[in-house]
Amino acid sequence: MIVSFVQTKGGTGKSTLSINTAFSKFVLDRFRSIALVELDPQGTLQSWWQERVAEGRDSYHVSFHHISSTQKEVIQQGISAIASHNDLLILDVPGESTSKLHTKFACAFSDIVVIPMRTSTNDESAFKNNLLPLIKELVKLTPEKIGSFFILPSFTNPQANKEKIIDYFNEILPNYIRCLPVVYPSRSVYENFNRDGMHIREYADSLSSNKRAYAQTYKAVDDIELIADAIFKNME
Ligand SMILES: Nc1ncnc2c1ncn2[C@@H]1O[C@H](COP(=O)(O)OP(=O)(O)OP(=O)(O)O)[C@@H](O)[C@H]1O
Ligand SMILES: [Mg+2]
Repeated sequence: MIVSFVQTKGGTGKSTLSINTAFSKFVLDRFRSIALVELDPQGTLQSWWQERVAEGRDSYHVSFHHISSTQKEVIQQGISAIASHNDLLILDVPGESTSKLHTKFACAFSDIVVIPMRTSTNDESAFKNNLLPLIKELVKLTPEKIGSFFILPSFTNPQANKEKIIDYFNEILPNYIRCLPVVYPSRSVYENFNRDGMHIREYADSLSSNKRAYAQTYKAVDDIELIADAIFKNME
């Protein structure tokens, strides 16, 4: 199975979500071998993984792969090779305003495409102009892709009424894209959990001597478990 985090707009949480979903308890318990695949030529996850290895962290049955090519055939071959050895692939796709090569690839070859998106007029119009036409075209050519695309409301205020946000998205979205029944709240812990190659649960556990920080960080761990559950529920 292939799950992608896609959004042509930069900085919406794709890489953060890719890392933490791959290491969520939900995913670790359900898949025997998980491949975290970075398609971003910038290689942010690659550096993070190198730190992880240098720190000697246990990655259980998660492996990391970086595909930096901008040739569709090379990307396709790389993904097929990884898919033949793993139950689940999680693709971290770069934010792309031009060419959109990786975005198009991920939309066409994934079983589930998760689109983290903020509730802002700017993000909504960027989505309508950039990503939506691409998905619309794909669904027209391949109707069986309907049901693969999900918005994840991101950077939501942790106090906000999440049902309202989800209803809002479902109202404005065309019928071939649904909103996941969950949100990805904005929390400062997401800005620094990844030091020394950690994922969010490792970071929370590293704070266990400070009860308050630990409880605060565990809210983010819970966010991720709920998100993983919502993503994979669609496959059962
Ligand atoms: N839920 C969140 N709350 C607050 N900050 C977040 C959250 N998720 C991610 N961030 C921070 O926002 C920034 C962008 O996140 P991230 O790199 O995951 O986005 P991205 O979509 O992968 O960006 P790009 O398009 O450049 O690849 C990072 O500094 C990250 O630490
Ligand atoms: Mg990224």
